[in-house]
Amino acid sequence: MKKQILVAGGTGYIGSHTTVELQNNGFEVIIADNLSNSKIEVLDGIEAITGIRPIFEKVDLSVIEETEAFFKKYSKVQAIIHFAANKAVGESVAKPLMYYRNNLNSLMNILEAMKEHKIPNLVFSSSCTVYGQPDKLPVTESTPRKEAESPYGNTKSISEDIIRDTVKAHPELKGIALRYFNPIGAHPSSKIGELPLGVPNNLIPFITQTVAGIRPELSVFGDDYSTPDGSCIRDYINVVDLAKAHVVAIERLLKNKNDSNYEYFNVGTGQGISVLEIIEGFERSTGKKVPHKIVARRPGDVEQIYADTSFANKTLGWKSESSLDDTLLSAWKWQENLK
Ligand code: UFG
Repeated sequence: MKKQILVAGGTGYIGSHTTVELQNNGFEVIIADNLSNSKIEVLDGIEAITGIRPIFEKVDLSVIEETEAFFKKYSKVQAIIHFAANKAVGESVAKPLMYYRNNLNSLMNILEAMKEHKIPNLVFSSSCTVYGQPDKLPVTESTPRKEAESPYGNTKSISEDIIRDTVKAHPELKGIALRYFNPIGAHPSSKIGELPLGVPNNLIPFITQTVAGIRPELSVFGDDYSTPDGSCIRDYINVVDLAKAHVVAIERLLKNKNDSNYEYFNVGTGQGISVLEIIEGFERSTGKKVPHKIVARRPGDVEQIYADTSFANKTLGWKSESSLDDTLLSAWKWQENLK
């Protein structure tokens, strides 16, 4: 019988790609999502790629009654991957209570259900935002966390602590937090990808919408940073590679190969890429010009961050495989497919 995995937030950007990889690896996926930032049609894309339509329940896991009812029905899942959270940095500054309530309540409700129904395994979506602007690059898992730059970032830091403390008190539970760097790109089939609502905050969807003529031009936020070309540096990880990291994390937990009840890993490429290099790479891989202008720095942006991924490479046997150009091309093909 197939092992059942609950993917909370499974119709979202990373959740949908992870569902595909789980199904391709023989797992049965149950998606729980409140569709607040995703569309039910994503299930069609997942089915078109894998031939399997995942089980879907519309549920808000930040509401305890809904969570309890959901887990009564699906108490036999062997593991949970928790993506269901709000993720817009700027919005979190404007609506901190919404972010704390949603992101923390959903995690605590899930952990309560894990205790109650004896579901031992959790993989959690964390972020490199927990490192702030690190003093030393690249960041390893022992790089100290810094005070979060935003309520969103703080929910990731607090969530990590909640998981760490809960599995310590309840040793029958185990958790892995994956600290994502900047996920980009789309499935090579162009059947699933990122679906930002309204004006995108993130670089790649803004670029693809600009090239598609939806936005007049990209604003590059600052070219006066202490980096080789003056623009900010990030570690851009292909979303399918990132999805695969979740499958290996789940397998590690299911096979009891974890070294402790709570582990956390950087999931990036190890390459620091500047905003201007992204523009060049996009133009190179797609043959399309990206209209852009340099504007002032965006408040809250860290100057540079990229991962040391050797711990994930060695311990999970996982590494990023896609080239930047292929990833940028996949983002463009997805955008074209939306027409
Ligand atoms: N950028 C632009 N113009 C834009 C959008 C972005 O120049 O229109 C630049 C930003 O200044 C930054 C880079 O592109 O240098 C990447 O910006 P994103 O908004 O795509 O991503 P961030 O690095 O700001 O944010 C990401 C995740 C967050 C996470 C954060 C942690 O989206 O969830 O990394 O560093 F919290």
